[in-house]
Amino acid sequence: MSDWMHTTARALVAADKGILAADESTGTIKKRFDAIGLDSTEEHRRQYRQMLFTTPEIGNHISGVILYDETIRQSTDDGVPFVKLLESAGMIPGIKVDTGAKPLALFPNETVTEGLDGLRERLAAYRDLGARFAKWRATVIVGDGTPTDGAILANAHAMARYAALCQEAEIVPIVEPEILMDGDHDIDACADATARTLDELFSHLRLMRVDLAGTLLKVNMIVPGKGSANQVSDAEIAAATVRVLSSHVPSDVPGVVFLSGGMSDEQATSRLNEMNRIGGFPWELSFSYGRALQAPSLAAWGGRHESVDAGQRALAHRARMNGLARAGAYSPDMESAA
Ligand code: 13P
Repeated sequence: MSDWMHTTARALVAADKGILAADESTGTIKKRFDAIGLDSTEEHRRQYRQMLFTTPEIGNHISGVILYDETIRQSTDDGVPFVKLLESAGMIPGIKVDTGAKPLALFPNETVTEGLDGLRERLAAYRDLGARFAKWRATVIVGDGTPTDGAILANAHAMARYAALCQEAEIVPIVEPEILMDGDHDIDACADATARTLDELFSHLRLMRVDLAGTLLKVNMIVPGKGSANQVSDAEIAAATVRVLSSHVPSDVPGVVFLSGGMSDEQATSRLNEMNRIGGFPWELSFSYGRALQAPSLAAWGGRHESVDAGQRALAHRARMNGLARAGAYSPDMESAA
């Protein structure tokens, strides 16, 4: 394994920095635009991503950006490819390569993420376009009798084959099992489902000869389901998450980056901060947020040309708050001081 991949994986979780997930599929970004009453045309999507990526000094707290197939091929108004723009601002371009979670045959309510067919060729093309890391997301549903061992295995195997193909192509794989917050399960059920998923995932990654030092794990925090009657404090979530990760994530993984998964932007920051205050773990604990970085920015921009500055200020603020949380140096009163 080349040193380059180890260096790139570590650069993505460098101190005070984390990843911006801006890889919403065309269907998902339409949902986000619907909320602000904006048509999801290719030009609006380009303008939105341009607003995010040209935010002044965004590279201070964003190490890399995950792009979608359409976005990695787009350019600024001045014709600068987004990939070049990101690189010149000190950020590493990445690409989402899975093709989505599909129903798993014979396993009602469970999914397996697809996208292995033709992946070697797609990775080569993305590398030519400038991608240096990739993402594959599997979703795990906690419910009555789920997740099953079958669904956990199917997703772990697919993620391991994806990761191996990435490393063959000199692209750092982010493996992302997301235990969904949907449901009324308690925090222990999330901890149990996450632990089982991680054990199976790392066993398959090793079996497929993936070099863990050239990967990143992207995962959920350990939280109760959204509908659970037993909600808990940020400190409890942080303690449970550090406990589960410490027992189930090998120490040669350079970093664990969290998804926000429907947490509010301030919860996502506060919980990451609490974990980094605990400290004492072998990997970096960082962020790879989509909604928790973008939501205030999208709302402030609102699709209005004259609000580009407001949208950029909102993104820069969230990036800075999360940069502070990387060192356990965030406090909620910094929100209003902005
Ligand atoms: P959220 O932070 O909005 O969950 O998105 C992160 C992500 O990339 C999910 O795959």
